[in-house]
Amino acid sequence: MASNKFNLQSGKFNKSVFSKIHSSRVHHLYRCVNVRNILIALCLFLIVYIVKAWRNRLSFGQYTYVFQRETILEKRSSRFHNITIAQSGPLRMLRFDMHGVEGIVHIHKPNILLFDYMRLQLLCLLWYSTPERVLILGLGAGILPRVLHHLSPSSTIDVVDIDTEVIDLARKYFHFNENQMIRTFVEDGRRFIERQTSNQYDVIIIDANTVNGHIPHDLRTVECLAEYIRILKRTGLLLANYPHEQESRYRETYSRALFKYIYRGKLPYNYVLIGLNQDTTVYNLQELQMRARNLQAVKSIPEMSWLEEVKYIHDEQQDHWNRSATIFTDKSYENFIGDSEQN
Ligand SMILES: *[C@@H]1O[C@H](CO)[C@@H](O)[C@H](O)[C@H]1NC(C)=O
Ligand SMILES: *[C@@H]1O[C@H](CO)[C@@H](O)[C@H](O)[C@H]1NC(C)=O
Repeated sequence: MASNKFNLQSGKFNKSVFSKIHSSRVHHLYRCVNVRNILIALCLFLIVYIVKAWRNRLSFGQYTYVFQRETILEKRSSRFHNITIAQSGPLRMLRFDMHGVEGIVHIHKPNILLFDYMRLQLLCLLWYSTPERVLILGLGAGILPRVLHHLSPSSTIDVVDIDTEVIDLARKYFHFNENQMIRTFVEDGRRFIERQTSNQYDVIIIDANTVNGHIPHDLRTVECLAEYIRILKRTGLLLANYPHEQESRYRETYSRALFKYIYRGKLPYNYVLIGLNQDTTVYNLQELQMRARNLQAVKSIPEMSWLEEVKYIHDEQQDHWNRSATIFTDKSYENFIGDSEQN
């Protein structure tokens, strides 16, 4: 009878049933098995948890975060993108068209650069610790101009972005603010460059990714690179971030554009090309390392770990690419998302 074995109301075993198994040996075994089962279950749970965390982790150089459930803070559509602002734990992200992440900040440590390519782009400070004038093409979440301003408050920084909604969202969610030293221009990047007078910028940084992490075609052609060189000071330098696809084509386009010297910062998913203008000093890798240590000492700003990225820099002699790769030109317009691989 059920009521004899288990008292539904009290939720306890009936005393008479319990007494039948109440030999101390059986009782001991019963407890052992139970404890062991619980331990096994706990271990399994822990393993599943660790594997899940490992698979959901986000690594940014020395920083690793476990991706947590994501909250969408805002979605907005502009002429150019469907933009999403999302947050996962302390990480706040800007996404275009649900592809990848365009910008990411740790909301409690906004001056840490989580993207390795951005840390590499900051290495422009190895040439000029306080460049007079900087041009950044592509705002994204506004992280690069904000951190650059933090590191070099006396630099004038011009930022060009085609999308006014992106600028607005950078202000609203990513602590980006224009001030006397940071100006934004809502304009097509190529048009902005072409209407600038010569020899004015110490540093130009290209961070204009659009769909699938590709640079708009008219910002990567040999004619456009010549325009970048025209508006650079003769002692200036250009830093741009590229995806690994078609690396030889980018590299060959650079070498035709008459930079005096080109470094390549190789990263797991992309790379940064650093082109020097005619009178810019060429430093070898040891000199760059030394300049990084000196800069660290001079600035004495916490969070200078981006200087370690100097280890990714290769100089021209170690840089191999297919020299017969077809270069990008204004004439050879192609759909920059789907064009074929030519490495
Ligand atoms: C935004 O998403 C809609 C719906 O998926 C799509 O039709 C539209 O082309 C997208 N807009 C842009 C600028 O990509
Ligand atoms: C180099 O590029 C040319 C032109 O695209 C191509 O025909 C050739 O196969 C490439 N060579 C190698 C080794 O990839």
